[in-house]
Amino acid sequence: MSLQLFHLHNETRESCPDFMGQNYRASFHTRSSAKGPRKKIYRAHLDGEGPRKGEHAVVKVFRNAPGTEVMCDAEIAKHVMARKLARKFNKMVPDASDKIKFTLPLKSTVERFGMGEYLFRHSRHLDKQEWVLIEENLLEDLEHKFEVFIKKNGERAGKDPTSLDAFVHFTYLESGQNFVMCGLQGIHVDKEGYKLTTPCMHSIHKLFGLTDKGPSGMRAIFAKHKCNNICWTWPKPSDHSVDEEDHLLFSEHDTDDGLSSGDELDTDRVDSSVKFDVHTPFSNSENEDSGIITNGQ
Ligand SMILES: Nc1ncnc2c1ncn2[C@@H]1O[C@H](COP(=O)(O)OP(=O)(O)O)[C@@H](O)[C@H]1O
Ligand SMILES: [Mg+2]
Ligand SMILES: [Zn+2]
Repeated sequence: MSLQLFHLHNETRESCPDFMGQNYRASFHTRSSAKGPRKKIYRAHLDGEGPRKGEHAVVKVFRNAPGTEVMCDAEIAKHVMARKLARKFNKMVPDASDKIKFTLPLKSTVERFGMGEYLFRHSRHLDKQEWVLIEENLLEDLEHKFEVFIKKNGERAGKDPTSLDAFVHFTYLESGQNFVMCGLQGIHVDKEGYKLTTPCMHSIHKLFGLTDKGPSGMRAIFAKHKCNNICWTWPKPSDHSVDEEDHLLFSEHDTDDGLSSGDELDTDRVDSSVKFDVHTPFSNSENEDSGIITNGQ
């Protein structure tokens, strides 16, 4: 690890291209600002030639061991899928505050360490070459609170139904019943909708990384999911039986918020208080009203 006396902050190399084909480096703090069970989050800003230069960002470092490119790719793949689904889903919800967007993390490696990397105590020093994720800082304006809206076990965190309940079910429908997305967290902005990051996915063939708990994870999500007026006719996993083991899936390895749940199963309740335009047909057009967070939004 080489110490750069004249740099306070750590820096990454040039990232993979973003949705506009532009690469950025991130300059990031040497002290983390938040952490989950798997990652630590560092405040950052983007450097480089593109239009997002100067934008507030966060660098996400894998906590337990240096991140690899494969780990980053698994995270990015989930976000790419989530953005596609959100684009389709948004066409069904007329109200802007119900619409959903997901961040698109970029991947890069750490290039240079700032002084703080040595000045502060760390549970694990960063490695040069370790892979990290870079994404929009959702708390940039300090007005909003980072919230878990749908927990990783599929349960809604708040009392009231939201469009996110239907989105969980929508991911199952749209994937041809091959996966379901949950763990929906981020911020809600009035008149703009949800800006989300780090979705969790459970799939028939466990294709989505270490947090993918497979068919039993999918069953457990639907045991907690409460249908509303848009999704109650959509298919659910045919085997509704959820045994104790399915619930244990979520408590064994994960320790972050949004996991515990003492609620009774209540799969058949229908919430009708969320209003959707159920007749809006899907369209394959990708360009309008996208589920993409772009610079300045
Ligand atoms: N894009 C973001 N902008 C601002 N804060 C974030 C962002 N992503 C995550 N965070 C904060 O960092 C915490 C951990 O991030 P997360 O990606 O959920 O890590 P983990 O995979 O360990 O759960 C979140 O609970 C939140 O407080
Ligand atoms: Mg988390
Ligand atoms: Zn439903």
